[in-house]
Amino acid sequence: MSKIIFVLNGPNLNLLGVREPHIYGSATLADVEAMCLAKAKALGFSIDFRQTNHEGVLIDWVQEARTAACALVLNPAGYGHTSIALLDALKSLTIPVIECHLSNPAAREAFRHSTYVALAATGLVSGFGAKSYELAIEAAATLSLKP
Ligand code: DQA
Repeated sequence: MSKIIFVLNGPNLNLLGVREPHIYGSATLADVEAMCLAKAKALGFSIDFRQTNHEGVLIDWVQEARTAACALVLNPAGYGHTSIALLDALKSLTIPVIECHLSNPAAREAFRHSTYVALAATGLVSGFGAKSYELAIEAAATLSLKP
């Protein structure tokens, strides 16, 4: 079995650290990647960490995760709230999918209160800033070991 956890990030997360830091914190995406790498390594896993601003690219990567990853951690960012195509791609996966958000979208504007991704996710971690990713990696590792 692959021990690679895909960590995929959607639009605008390349601006982490400078983008609305009062909501998303001051850690950069590189900082988040380093945290994910350290957490995964400690648990005996490796990660493939990527970010894109393009919906189709994100969907291609989700499809790639279907056969290349043992679990998927996904911060879909804005596409989580809008993309049925992303949901359809996620529905093709049999590996655990952990939806991950830095902020707590349920406590923000009404249009953030639900995501299409949640319909296909195994579980959701949100509201803990960069720490959400660490918790999501932990969940991904644990779930991927289940028979
Ligand atoms: C986000 C929450 C989304 O509502 C928003 O569109 C983002 C970031 C988060 O990590 O808190 O871009 O996914």
